[in-house]
Amino acid sequence: AADTAPASPAPTPQSFGKTRGGTPVQIYTLTNRNGCEARITNYGGIVVSLKVPDRNGHLDDVVLGHDDLAGYEAHPSPYFGAMIGRYGNRIAQGRFALDGRDYQLALNDAPNTLHGGKQGFDKRLWDAREITTPDGPALELTYTSPDGEEGYPGKLGVKATYTLTNNDELRLAFEATTDKPTVVNLTNHSYFDLHGPASKGDILDHEATLFASKFIPVDRTSIPLGELRPVAGTPFDFTKPTKIGARLGDPYEQLHLGPGGYDHTFVLDGYDPKTAATAAPFLAARVHDPASGRTLELWTSEPGVQFYTGNFLDGTFSGKKGNVYKKHAAFCLEPQHYPDSPNHPEWPSVILRPGETYRSTFFYRFTAQ
Ligand code: GLA
Repeated sequence: AADTAPASPAPTPQSFGKTRGGTPVQIYTLTNRNGCEARITNYGGIVVSLKVPDRNGHLDDVVLGHDDLAGYEAHPSPYFGAMIGRYGNRIAQGRFALDGRDYQLALNDAPNTLHGGKQGFDKRLWDAREITTPDGPALELTYTSPDGEEGYPGKLGVKATYTLTNNDELRLAFEATTDKPTVVNLTNHSYFDLHGPASKGDILDHEATLFASKFIPVDRTSIPLGELRPVAGTPFDFTKPTKIGARLGDPYEQLHLGPGGYDHTFVLDGYDPKTAATAAPFLAARVHDPASGRTLELWTSEPGVQFYTGNFLDGTFSGKKGNVYKKHAAFCLEPQHYPDSPNHPEWPSVILRPGETYRSTFFYRFTAQ
């Protein structure tokens, strides 16, 4: 029973200013049949805002971000809303071997490489094209990453299609091809606070369900120890709806690395290595905000999801409308292959070879009860 008749859709695209280097940047507005709205910029493929209804039908922005392009260009970056590549998450010491050759990647998260390196896909300008699909309005972004960029082998052609479906889903479909063997692991880094503007400053009261009976413990630099550990009997058991903040103070070592909190890959039970990325997305996670009634579901065909509770937000990142984001201001659900997979041949493969097409499709679905 939405009481908000959709306002007339915002004009699209609009200018999002110029980069420090002087290149004009656009922001595109996708508006679905129900009035939900996603604003996406071709700088970094960033989802700048995402308006979805609460239980009374009020449309509110539920993602963290900045008001302007300069905010997104600032360093260090929390990667608000960004397209992440070529490799989401960390690779130990930025090193891996492929077909007997050693590669050294740019190091930007000492001593490791994180989210594609110093200038990952989140800081690149993408070519954009708005399209209308039977499912809803969409934006197609393309980028060609040159051979050797950030140390990665192969010229990688990437297409990312963002669709705001008429079922209130933000769907991301990624495709990539290469001219040399390489590694690929693309994702999106949206930070959600389902309270919207009625934010309490943190998401500790949100109830999370993660369809994962194992998680990946890490060392102090967030590199996997190698083990897939059962969540049963640990504060990582989200197989039943549990408040995100309920066990943050538990004396469990994995919760107290670095700034503390969840920043781990959960091993998704729905993943089937036999069908892998060609499989239809399955339900991986659900997060519900009892205050607004909003529920977010993540559907993906990836083997893992990084559940991150904004642990590095420390009040130094200024955000939209004068907001200063503090620890646990938001949560991320980043569907992906496991961190450091290039150094773990026993895990689902992230290798892409000439002639093959990398594909990953996932969506965030919004409802309200
Ligand atoms: C990911 C990582 C975190 C952090 C954020 C960005 O979620 O797992 O450790 O680096 O990105 O701040």
